[in-house]
Order: sequence, then C-alpha cells, then structure tokens
Amino acid sequence: EESKKIVLAEDPSLPKASKAKISQLTEWRSKRVRVSGWVHRLRQQKDITFLTLRDGTGYLQAVLSGTVNQTYEALTLTMESTVELTGLLQTVPEGKTAPGGHELTVDYWKVLGAAPGADDAFTNRLNEKSDPSILADLRHLVIRGETASSVLRLRAGLLDAFRQTYAKHSCLEVTPPCLVQTMVEGGATLFQLNYYGEPAFLTQSSQLYLETCLPSLGDVFCFQESFRAENSHTRRHLAEYTHLEGELAFITFDDLMAHIEAIICESVDILLANPEMTTIIKQLNPNFTAPARPFLRLSYADAIAWLNEHGIKHPEEDAEGNVIKDENGKEKMVEHRIGDDIAEAAERQMTDIIGKPIFLHSFPAELKAFYMKKIPGQTGKVVFTESCDLLMPNVGEIVGGSMRIADYDELIAAYKREGIDPTNYYWYTDQRKYGTCEHGGYGLGVERLLAWLANRYTVRECALYPRWPGRAKP
Ligand code: 4AD
Repeated sequence: EESKKIVLAEDPSLPKASKAKISQLTEWRSKRVRVSGWVHRLRQQKDITFLTLRDGTGYLQAVLSGTVNQTYEALTLTMESTVELTGLLQTVPEGKTAPGGHELTVDYWKVLGAAPGADDAFTNRLNEKSDPSILADLRHLVIRGETASSVLRLRAGLLDAFRQTYAKHSCLEVTPPCLVQTMVEGGATLFQLNYYGEPAFLTQSSQLYLETCLPSLGDVFCFQESFRAENSHTRRHLAEYTHLEGELAFITFDDLMAHIEAIICESVDILLANPEMTTIIKQLNPNFTAPARPFLRLSYADAIAWLNEHGIKHPEEDAEGNVIKDENGKEKMVEHRIGDDIAEAAERQMTDIIGKPIFLHSFPAELKAFYMKKIPGQTGKVVFTESCDLLMPNVGEIVGGSMRIADYDELIAAYKREGIDPTNYYWYTDQRKYGTCEHGGYGLGVERLLAWLANRYTVRECALYPRWPGRAKP
C-alpha cells in the first residue's frame, strides 16, 4: 500500500545524464547515463533488484535499491518490460563480472511499457522446451533470446565481411529484381504468380541478370532473396533464402574455384579479426577453426568411385526417378554409377567422413542446368561440365557454381535440349551476340554458410523469419 504512493522524481542536483546505447557505455564510465531497453533478466530480493537490461547492442547489469526499489513499478516489474534507467555507471569491483565490466546504480527510472505477468508472462509464452512448431509461431519472441540474436548478429557481421571482401576483389554490388519471367534452375521449383495477367515467377537465382552486368559494370555480386518451391522438409532447405551470387568475366574454371575459396576464407578472416564476432563464434561454435586452404578438389567421377570404395550406396530408382521398394516396403540399396545424382544423404556421409571443405566438380551435363559450359574436347558418352559445388562438413552443399556457355550456337542448342522457349531469354542470348566472353559465377546460400559457421542444426535458425513448406508466418 505504501509503495503505491512513492512517486519518483529525478534529483536536479545530480549531474546531467547522457543518453547512450549499451555498446557505447565504456566511454561513459564514472558518469551518469540514461539507457533504455528491455528487461532481459530480473532477480528481485527484499531490498534490492538486480536486472539485466537489453537494448539490442548489448546487455547491462543494473541495480535498484532504496527508494527506487520501493515503488509500485519496482514491485510489479516483469521480464521484457521496457524501461528507461538513469544512474551512475561504475566499473564492477575486482573479482566480480558483469557484461561490459560495468554496472549501473540506478537513481531514477521509469517503466515505458509494462509487459504482462502471470499466465501471459513472457517466460510462460516462450518455454524453451516448447514444440518446434510453437517456437516457429513465436519466432518474433524467440529472436529476443541470446542464442537467436547472436546468430542474427553474426549474420550481419558476415554480410558486412563479404561486402568488404568483394570491394577488395573489385566486384560491384548490384540489386537484381525478384519478379522475373525466366527460370534459371528448372521449372520444378518455380513459384508462379499472376503478374498483371501474365505469368511471372519469384526469382530462383539472379545469375542471368548478373551475367548481363559484366559488359556494363565488370565483375559483380548481389545479395538477393531466392525462392524455391521445393517440397523438401530437410534441415538445409528453405522456400526463401538469401542468395549471395557472384559473376566474373574473362576467367578460367580454375580461377572460379580459387575465387570462391578466397571470398569465403577472406570473409571468415575478417570475422575472426573482429572481437565481437569472435566472441559470438566462440559462444555458438566453440570448436570452430578457419578452414585450411586450398580446399580439396574432387571430381564427380572420383567421388562416385570414393562412395563405392566406402560402401556408401543409394536407393535404386526407376526411370522416372522414383525409389523402388520391395514387397516389404524396403528400399533396394545399390552402388553409385557415373550419371547418378549424388543424393543428399550420400553427399553428407562423404563430407562428414572427409571432414573438411570439398570442391566437388565436373558434374555430368545431364544433372545440371542448361547454361553450364562443357569441358572442352570430350569424346565419351557422358558429357561433363565445368561446374562445382562446395561441400562443408555438417551442412553439405553451400555453393553451386559453374562456367557458362559462351558460344551463341551452343546456347541456342542448350535451350532446345532443355525445351526452353528462347523468346523470353532474348536479353540473355544478346550477351552471346554483342561481345561474348568466357565467364563464370556461383551462388552461395547465406543460411547454409551461417549454419556451418555457427554450428546450427538447421538453416531455419539462420534466417530472420524462415520460410519452408507450410510456413510463411510470422
Ligand atoms: O546450386 P544452386 O541451385 O545454383 C544456382 O542457383 C546458380 N544459378 C547460382 C549461380 O551460379 N549464380 O544454388 C546455389 C546455392 C546452393 O549451393 C545452396 O547453398 C543454396 O544456393 N540453396 C539453398 N539454400 C537454402 N534453401 C534452399 N532451398 C536452397 N537451394 C539452394
């Protein structure tokens, strides 16, 4: 009853407080500061309240005692309420630890937005042990947590590191469209929509647009969302993902692989040189070490032999690609043959046994997209391409790239072989007409790279609001 009557007023005789973000507080030590944020942790004792404030830039330990701890707001304070705290910032005494090494002794504060308690309290809504689909519904609350926000912060650091690396490699950033009328990676995974009465798609890859940028801007890259209507409920497939793509002119296939390796390794080095990022990587993935260069290069044909030598088989399929089962519903496991697609399970086993990044290269043309350049001078029955996938332990494929068909006639033949109507591709074909060049590029799944870097079980933890079959909220 008494507490209800206490109304706090800021003491005008105290030094003026400076408004600050938590990450900037070191420079304000021994001064009065005003910090706003969310109550991240709360420990209330009879005469003292310890709280951890979170403002997105960091965490701050704050202490409320005396009058400031006796108000109605103090007694009814809840987790995730927003508060503005004012007080003296002091270095924590030796032997004690606190985030940032300092602590705020609050002399004045107010509640900006009280969060509910009881049944509707934050901790009741968000039980860490909840069913995954409940946690997916509550993603907007999950991202307030330390792990989820660390992953998102690392993601931002990673994008920044990539941009720095591309600048060093003289690659220019472009922003291609999401609404398109041409497919890149085959019709099976296209999201189609009605575009003012015409069919259009959500982009699967910005590659074809990047290729048109080469004569205009030179080597380019983009971060763009790609969309895949794949009905795969795996830990590495999203319906929408952030696609980092690069395209380079006047290169060889070897140059392409060396470039991909350089972009990844130099970006990881930039992250590891940043103390904030190293702390996050240590927290999420304590055993992380930067991969050794050069990456192992393994041809598709050698990989098939490797799988057979290691007894890694795959379920037999009929001509339509359906898995054949016996009368008991059991799959018949058979050896890999040249021409087979290396399925996710086999690829994962191989990558995990080898235990380091692998450039798997020179895939059969049959298995790959229409635009890929064939290895010159082949006479065999199976035709191989200048293509590569980069495989990482625990995740599998994180990059897909290739050299592109540079020759006009060869491209026209490729459209025909794939049953593509060249009409809509007139602008892509024009690239082979007006000054063609040897060129190549790649796409990297940002969530997959992040899953590798941060040791996450699934790419779903690596997107802000992940989308997968049946999931487009929040
Ligand atoms: O291998 P993909 O399909 O290659 C392309 O789209 C090329 N046109 C890229 C290029 O050459 N510019 O996809 C490239 C990468 C994959 O290695 C994977 O990391 C990621 O994109 N990816 C996905 N990530 C999450 N969910 C999905 N459904 C993905 N599909 C591909």
